Amino acid sequence: MNKINIPKNRIRKLKTFALGKKPYELQNLNSYNKTLIDLCSNDYFGLSRDKDLIQASYEISLLQGLGSGSSRFITGSRPIHKLLESELAEWLNQEKVLLFPSGFQANIAAIQALANRNSIVIADKFIHNSLLVGVKAAQSKLVRFAHNNLKDLEDKIRKFKTTHNSILIVVESLYSMEGSVAPLQEITKIVQKYNVELLVDEAHAIGILGPEGKGLSFNFSDYITLITGTFGKAFGSGGAFIACNSKIGEHLIQTSGAFRYTTALSPALSAGALTALQKIKNNKEWGADLLNAAQKWKAEILKNFSYSVRGESHILSIIVGQEEKAMHLQRYLEEHGFLAVAIRPPTVPVGESRIRITIRKNLDLNIMKKFISVLKNFK
Ligand SMILES: Cc1ncc(COP(=O)(O)O)c(C=O)c1O
Repeated sequence: MNKINIPKNRIRKLKTFALGKKPYELQNLNSYNKTLIDLCSNDYFGLSRDKDLIQASYEISLLQGLGSGSSRFITGSRPIHKLLESELAEWLNQEKVLLFPSGFQANIAAIQALANRNSIVIADKFIHNSLLVGVKAAQSKLVRFAHNNLKDLEDKIRKFKTTHNSILIVVESLYSMEGSVAPLQEITKIVQKYNVELLVDEAHAIGILGPEGKGLSFNFSDYITLITGTFGKAFGSGGAFIACNSKIGEHLIQTSGAFRYTTALSPALSAGALTALQKIKNNKEWGADLLNAAQKWKAEILKNFSYSVRGESHILSIIVGQEEKAMHLQRYLEEHGFLAVAIRPPTVPVGESRIRITIRKNLDLNIMKKFISVLKNFK
């Protein structure tokens, strides 16, 4: 292969960042080490730099190894895995939790566990790429319903219910690009009505949203077949998990390639995730504080500009429209000390290019004021 077949304007540069001195700062190593205020990482509570998480990773590495050395099925299963799985299962009130090296892998495993070549997967239009890859891996037929549109979802279930026994609905609880929240109460009612399976990806919500940060599915978990979550975002670590009942858990252990044929999650990241879980349990106000801060950011942007702003929680999308304008705004913000990435097609629909910002624990209101004043001078 000697030519990459991607239009020039869609080619992305891989940039490298070092940590800045302040907890919200990054240095762009591709641009004279310029210090930037990070408005786009998913490290929502800043836990990736937390000394307790780092210490726990170090200590467990001395005892249980930095890496796990093989798959869970060979010699890679460590006490820290069992501990993290049981603590999470208890916290989420689930029978079984299984760890995965990444959310991408967990999502593939999840779809493969619940669907096969005879299944129909009915998925929200905005689900994450990993879930789509999962549908391909499961060789299921994919049908999309309009984003958060309950009528469309129900119409599609009704249509396929007559021809298919196996129907899986796939949604995210908080959508990563729109910042919108799935109407899980209504979705679980539909799922019960038609007796179909439901998978909810809690990647951006776990630790933050729902009761005590247990995710938006928590109150409806009796009607949700399986949830996935990652440790790479609010938990400040890396790796991921699937939570489900014992039967599906055992099915995954016995049949999932994504679980069996991969080096087990490193003890270091597992200990980081476990320490994050303890912190999230001990600081129950963190999620609500983040939401309050995000509401202030949203209100302030709406008050000062005519941009529409999407997002019902800590992920906000400032809709700019044209791809070039979004790129121009990204560069302008970077020149003025803010790292906020433009999201453009094919990730979002044409004409809906945007600047996506994530509101994180360490961003205080002075940063917000500075952002607004910088944005005011954008032409
Ligand atoms: C909605 C969603 N699901 C899954 C993933 C994958 O998680 P991980 O980064 O742990 O692979 C992401 C990552 O960006 C995501 O946004």
